[in-house]
Amino acid sequence: MLENLLQALIFIFPAYVANGAPVVGVKLIGRATPIDRGAKAWDGRRVLGDGKTIEGLIVGISSGAAVGLLILLRLPQLYRGVFEPLTLSAGTILGDIFGSFVKRRLGLKRGQPAPGLDQLGFVCFALALSIAVYGIPAWLDAATLISLLLITAFLHVGTNYLAYLLGLKREPY
Ligand code: CTP
Ligand code: MG
Repeated sequence: MLENLLQALIFIFPAYVANGAPVVGVKLIGRATPIDRGAKAWDGRRVLGDGKTIEGLIVGISSGAAVGLLILLRLPQLYRGVFEPLTLSAGTILGDIFGSFVKRRLGLKRGQPAPGLDQLGFVCFALALSIAVYGIPAWLDAATLISLLLITAFLHVGTNYLAYLLGLKREPY
């Protein structure tokens, strides 16, 4: 049980990296090109908004995949293939983009909170995409999944607050 949770946390770690890296990456690069290029949807609001950039997408996917490869060196059995961390990272960014799309349609401005969606949308997409490609991972059972989601939500709140204190984020969530 605890062993499953530990496996789950290491397994999902590339998704955490892919979700967090854009915040730092965009700062370091010093350039931010919105994925939607400023385009508006049918409701007159931005499709995604300025918080979802091409630079963030590239930094997120590549750093998540890279960290996953490092994990693979140590734990060769954890993933079902060398591309699984890439799949998790792509799922993360996709989920994050989907989240912003939904937030804009609900009339929420860039950076406004959407409790639940902000903390768990990315990890649900990451997991769903890896299950779609590779099937259900061996560690996955109901209790482990619930624990993983709870821990992810707490970690998301904590790390975002830390990023805010460090001046990396404009909002503490
Ligand atoms: N970021 C980025 N590109 C991405 C994802 C994130 O550049 N694909 C950067 C942006 O600088 C963004 C920050 O990471 O402001 C924090 O990400 P997030 O909280 O997901 O974006 P928000 O600014 O809160 O925007 P939204 O309301 O759309 O979630
Ligand atoms: Mg946000």
